[in-house]
Amino acid sequence: MAKKTIADIDVKGLKVFMRVDFNVPLDADCKITNDRRIEMALPSIKAALEGGAKLILASHLGRPKGEFEAKYSLSPAAIRLGELLGKEVKLAPDCVGPEVKAMVDAMADGDVIVLENLRFHNGETKNSPEFAQKLADLADVYCNDAFGTAHREHASMFGVPSILGKEKSVCGFLIEKEVKYLGEALADPQRPFVAILGGAKVSDKITVIDNLINKVDRILIGGGMAYTFFKAQGMEIGKSICEDDKLDVAIKLLEVAKEKGCEIVLPIDNVIAQEFKANTENKVNTGDIDPEWEGLDIGPETRKLFAEKLADAKTIVWNGPMGVFELEPFDAGTKAVAIAIADATANGAISIIGGGDSAAAVEIMGLDDKMSHISTGGGASLEFLEGKVFGSLTVLADK
Ligand code: 3PG
Repeated sequence: MAKKTIADIDVKGLKVFMRVDFNVPLDADCKITNDRRIEMALPSIKAALEGGAKLILASHLGRPKGEFEAKYSLSPAAIRLGELLGKEVKLAPDCVGPEVKAMVDAMADGDVIVLENLRFHNGETKNSPEFAQKLADLADVYCNDAFGTAHREHASMFGVPSILGKEKSVCGFLIEKEVKYLGEALADPQRPFVAILGGAKVSDKITVIDNLINKVDRILIGGGMAYTFFKAQGMEIGKSICEDDKLDVAIKLLEVAKEKGCEIVLPIDNVIAQEFKANTENKVNTGDIDPEWEGLDIGPETRKLFAEKLADAKTIVWNGPMGVFELEPFDAGTKAVAIAIADATANGAISIIGGGDSAAAVEIMGLDDKMSHISTGGGASLEFLEGKVFGSLTVLADK
């Protein structure tokens, strides 16, 4: 069901607790290497400020273990937000406690405060009622725009809106957009509907494949997980990555897909190497792989085949790289798929790119504006595709 957004409530003079996902990648010097998640939260942030709210932004960053760690501070995100907004953004020394409460009480309409990392307290991930209450005490209303974290029932995601109540809890524009694209694709797709799944492990994608088999016309499988399917079918895969305990699952998925009329397309050639490193000697291989070699990317014929299988698609969902994307030249298969999706989009397909590596690939190639939607959620978009219902969304007001 559609949710009320920040545009549906009058926030003038109110303290708005906005949960965002500022879990941005940082380099060794704590410099942000990709600020997309901050940029994508800007429409909701600006709407709250233009509406005259006192805006309290809360996020996690990384996975600290319940205590302050400088490398997980939200300071770089607060600084970047200040630059993007062109106004002062204060960083609170913590996310709860008397000092934070005093800072919030001193806010004027239109002020912005970023609370320090929620996960500096164990209560966040444990959804502790006491911790959620302390966060809720800071605010009058709640807005959730953290799609990347929507699959977590943490205190700031679930506890706070539950305390403030459904009518005072809305979503932001980013969540609205993510749910619209992912939700509509699954509920009412234009066909053919093609999913492309990659990444290292079958185990990470079993539930997604299981769910998508019922909805899509075709699933293209690349990346490390293809080798588990190959071995399950009796092929030699050398030292390629494989989950031996998932061979039966792979066979079962192929059988179920056949029963349901969902076409599963596996790679027909691979790029293989003897060492797992960039620019190492490599060759294209078809069929069995010799013992000292491992598959690191889909081969050129597979790239062509996948492009053909995408050409007539009207809805496309992509999650996971086709090869070892971080090591050249084993990024070529992932890049070829990104181009094929951009082409299909230009021909009228709705393309949805799951977060994580697939989103990174598209961005590195400068194809972002050639896709219909690039999700800010890695784990969240995957769980959405698995068909899970997010508790963090059920506690928000319905339209
Ligand atoms: C993400 O990066 O996927 C989100 O910010 C969620 O982070 P988490 O997996 O540490 O909960």
